[in-house]
Amino acid sequence: MTAPALRPYLPADAAALAEIFRISIDELTQEDYGEAQREAWISIADDPAAFATRLGKGLTIIASLDGEPVGFASLVGNEELDLLYVTPDAAGQGVGSTLVDALERLASARGSKALMTNASDTARPFFEKRGYIAQSRNTVLINGEWLANTSMTKTLAANANVKGS
Ligand SMILES: CC(C)(COP(=O)(O)OP(=O)(O)OC[C@H]1O[C@@H](n2cnc3c(N)ncnc32)[C@H](O)[C@@H]1OP(=O)(O)O)[C@@H](O)C(=O)NCCC(=O)NCCS
Repeated sequence: MTAPALRPYLPADAAALAEIFRISIDELTQEDYGEAQREAWISIADDPAAFATRLGKGLTIIASLDGEPVGFASLVGNEELDLLYVTPDAAGQGVGSTLVDALERLASARGSKALMTNASDTARPFFEKRGYIAQSRNTVLINGEWLANTSMTKTLAANANVKGS
């Protein structure tokens, strides 16, 4: 399998990433969230300006396979993984791991000791495999629907291999 290529997000990518966000939630989270919950979650991308602002809030990176964006993730304030979405066609091929590896290394190189994320129930096993520990269960109200997630943290290895980046 080809390794995904990584690059930083640019404002011109916002529409493509909104589409990845929608299809990822709609198809990959069906076992964990009902239809109304998924629709509410997806509606976060309905306001293009607000979605672009969220993407630009932290450092967002895009993973591509054969030149096509297939996933993205954001690091906010060097201590929080905010967004992590992979297209269903590319799921299970290491794209999520490549994205989170890169952001963990970056956060560590910038001096962060730990990372936190509010993991969806779908993503929780992915984060557990990477050494994230569940801290609290949350329910958040999104456009009239309550969705559960789990706050998780991981202690980062000191200054992980990216000196000078
Ligand atoms: C969670 C998500 C980003 C994982 O991306 P991915 O590219 O499929 O993950 P990878 O292929 O890198 O998987 C890495 C490991 O985690 C495991 N894993 C990934 N998703 C999993 C899931 N839903 N359940 C159990 N294990 C999972 C993989 O089996 C793999 O294990 P391995 O190393 O033993 O083979 C993807 O499923 C997704 O976009 N989900 C929907 C959106 C979502 O919930 N985002 C998180 C918001 S907090």
